[in-house]
Amino acid sequence: MNDSPYYTPPETPEVPEAQQTPETSEPDEVSESSPQDTGAEPVPIAPFVPAPHRPGKTRIIAMMNQKGGVGKTTTAANLAAALVMEGMRVLTIDMDPQAHLSLSFGVEIDEESYSLYDLLCDDDLDAADVICEIYPGLELLPSEVNLAGVEGELAPKVITGQAQRVLKDKLKAVLSENNPDRPDFVIIDCPPSLGLLTINALTLANEVIVPMQAHFLALQGLSKLLETVQLIRNGFNDKLSVSGVILCMHDAQTILAGEVVNDLKAFLDGSRDSDVPWKDAIIYEPYVRRNIKLAESPSFGKTIFEYAPTCPGARDYENLASAVIGHSVFQ
Ligand SMILES: Nc1ncnc2c1ncn2[C@@H]1O[C@H](COP(=O)(O)OP(=O)(O)OP(=O)(O)O)[C@@H](O)[C@H]1O
Ligand SMILES: [Mg+2]
Repeated sequence: MNDSPYYTPPETPEVPEAQQTPETSEPDEVSESSPQDTGAEPVPIAPFVPAPHRPGKTRIIAMMNQKGGVGKTTTAANLAAALVMEGMRVLTIDMDPQAHLSLSFGVEIDEESYSLYDLLCDDDLDAADVICEIYPGLELLPSEVNLAGVEGELAPKVITGQAQRVLKDKLKAVLSENNPDRPDFVIIDCPPSLGLLTINALTLANEVIVPMQAHFLALQGLSKLLETVQLIRNGFNDKLSVSGVILCMHDAQTILAGEVVNDLKAFLDGSRDSDVPWKDAIIYEPYVRRNIKLAESPSFGKTIFEYAPTCPGARDYENLASAVIGHSVFQ
């Protein structure tokens, strides 16, 4: 973790074996880069320059899909980093007891440091005591495996509705308009379940983005997810809307992927005139291609922009950040 108030260019990572071979040698790799562009040349990411006009309100986005392994954490980490490159202050929240987002940023909780579990369970702890800086512009509310126990700890408060909004209450000061350093974006990495942790994320959020893979049954999972969003909108958060879907690990060549994308488009277009929370949802472009560098970078505790900034995965997330900035359903 970088505690310095000044940006320090990251050290050049050791080049792993996988990087020493050309990308085309990866069996599951779909690379659209030129043969000489291996994306393996790590360069320092640009220093943080705040955007001249900060958005008036913080966009709080839950990366949500109850299906596992679809690209939620990869998207949360790299989209957040790409938004920082666009001059946005970003707070990320690791809402998953697997703590993959924290590990992706190279953060491991030791005995002395606080985590999201402590924040949610200790009435006297402030979010500012738990949030850590990854590098200028990018912050993290980190987690560790004990977060799994939070549902039991908060169970007695479910009946009053307090358990569902504890994260929101804890972040009031950080997100207050009186805080000059308040983030422009909050990106929440949800666990692959629809339990109390996800409900807390949806109660805090004003937008949902659904990372998904264009696979068989993906749309069936989506309808369950949208039902949950509707329930939270009716119960705890009338501002909640779905801004869109991010297609991850996309294999443009397969017929199935093309069919799923067409079905998804038809489904979303069919909702435009209704009053559902996903009536303005889009499929964000570009679709994130399958790119082995995206799978390698978390094991170095680095985002794709520190690890392999010229690879196709870095380009996809960079372009996605512009698309996300350009399309918001949050008024
Ligand atoms: N575009 C991509 N190309 C190649 N590998 C990817 C890509 N996106 C994600 N992965 C890999 O796929 C796996 C699943 O991704 P990820 O952890 O982001 O999914 P998740 O939805 O957060 O999973 P979980 O539900 O367990 O939290 C990881 O090993 C990740 O490195
Ligand atoms: Mg994850």
